[in-house]
Amino acid sequence: MNLVSIPNTTGGHLGGWRHPSSYSQTAMNLDCVIELAQLAERGKFDAVFLADGNAVRDMQPPALFAANHPSARPVGFEPTTVLSAVSVLTKKIGVVATATTTYDEPWSVARRFASLDHISRGRAGWNLVTTSYAGDALNFSRTEHMLREERYTRAEEFHDVVIDLWDSWAEDAFPEDKPTGQFLDPSRVRNIDHEGPHFRVKGPLNVARSPQGRPVVFMAGQSSRGMELAARHADALFGAGSTKQHCLDAYAGVKGRMSKYGRKPESLKILPGISVFVGRTTAEADELYEELQGLISPTLGVHYLSKIMEMDLSPYPLDGPLPDVPGHTLGGSSLREYIIDMSRKGGWSIRQTYERSLPSIGAPLFRGTPRQIADEMEDWYRSQACDGFTILAPLAPRGLRNFVDLVIPELQRRGLARTEYATSTLRGHLGLDHPVNPHFPNVAAR
Ligand SMILES: Cc1cc2nc3c(=O)[nH]c(=O)nc-3n(C[C@H](O)[C@H](O)[C@H](O)COP(=O)(O)O)c2cc1C
Repeated sequence: MNLVSIPNTTGGHLGGWRHPSSYSQTAMNLDCVIELAQLAERGKFDAVFLADGNAVRDMQPPALFAANHPSARPVGFEPTTVLSAVSVLTKKIGVVATATTTYDEPWSVARRFASLDHISRGRAGWNLVTTSYAGDALNFSRTEHMLREERYTRAEEFHDVVIDLWDSWAEDAFPEDKPTGQFLDPSRVRNIDHEGPHFRVKGPLNVARSPQGRPVVFMAGQSSRGMELAARHADALFGAGSTKQHCLDAYAGVKGRMSKYGRKPESLKILPGISVFVGRTTAEADELYEELQGLISPTLGVHYLSKIMEMDLSPYPLDGPLPDVPGHTLGGSSLREYIIDMSRKGGWSIRQTYERSLPSIGAPLFRGTPRQIADEMEDWYRSQACDGFTILAPLAPRGLRNFVDLVIPELQRRGLARTEYATSTLRGHLGLDHPVNPHFPNVAAR
């Protein structure tokens, strides 16, 4: 079973950062990120993953901004920069970060992640996203956000250009031969002149072919376009559902689409996010859950739900039903649709909706003893709801520490988690093939 950890220093639960046992100062605190990554490495996770966005969100109205929870990321490191630091202070664990295809450039992304792959000696992964938060447009000289269709058309071309740039050089392109004075071999590089609807990019990339051949490509899109792109190009897919049934359907759906692109199902790893509340006893797990729930005030709950619904819910009665929310939004979010659906089906009030759906921010919630959690994970894994999980700990560092100390040994006993790293690259950990450079296929022979 593959396992990815999100080293979220403020925790995955809305109230997590306020808990007395949580880090007391997290903003721009490198030590916390490093501690969490080293903890995940102690648990022999495949990788740590840092999500990312750009705009500081929801500054208007001021009351909404004041209720801003840190998960909206008002402050944080640029992820490939911080992961460069993490990678020199860890040895084996993969380092995965988000970079957007909507507002970044293929050249910059190819260069950053190829560099990270070199710095980490083969442990880098790129989470390719299309930005859903409309406000990011204003950070990048645009007045309007791109519509989802355009975002995905651009993402597809963006991906292809990045791959092409990563394939610029043969592995043996730099002999650096002092006696002959030959630094590079000009027969071992390609000229790239990409011209497409969105990008005109001249290559080659100014980074040598990276240790993994190409960094691992993760994706996280949940729409039909997102799933299609993943089936075609992704090595790994985050968060493919919010319930087991969701995950079973998404797993079969995405894997089923792969054959038309000539891909084998095992060449894509599907790793839904789960939020884990573990205790030595069920009472201990429940107690932690209740403590954190108690840290979400109705004001924060309503404001946070309002952000997800893209509609101010504060004028509506807290114990009345969720009102009709606008159907189409520019950003588009599967989380929003999921929460509306759950709320309607369950007949939930606004209060119940935020109480039940926000603690794990849409992810399925696994709560109980190590054995109960491992049972549930094993069940999902064996019934092909996933190839592994992305673990969201509700508070930091206690949540991840408990997972590593309590759940990992239980998974190891069942033969579901490794006890030692058998490889040193992220591709190796995930069980993915090393890609051959199609333009220089015979390096080994040379
Ligand atoms: C587990 C997970 C992690 C994500 N991480 C990011 C992120 O770091 N940055 C971002 O802009 N979007 C992130 N997203 C959003 C998606 O990548 C995607 O862009 C968004 O869902 C819109 O695409 P869709 O309409 O296909 O769902 C994440 C989604 C999931 C499920």
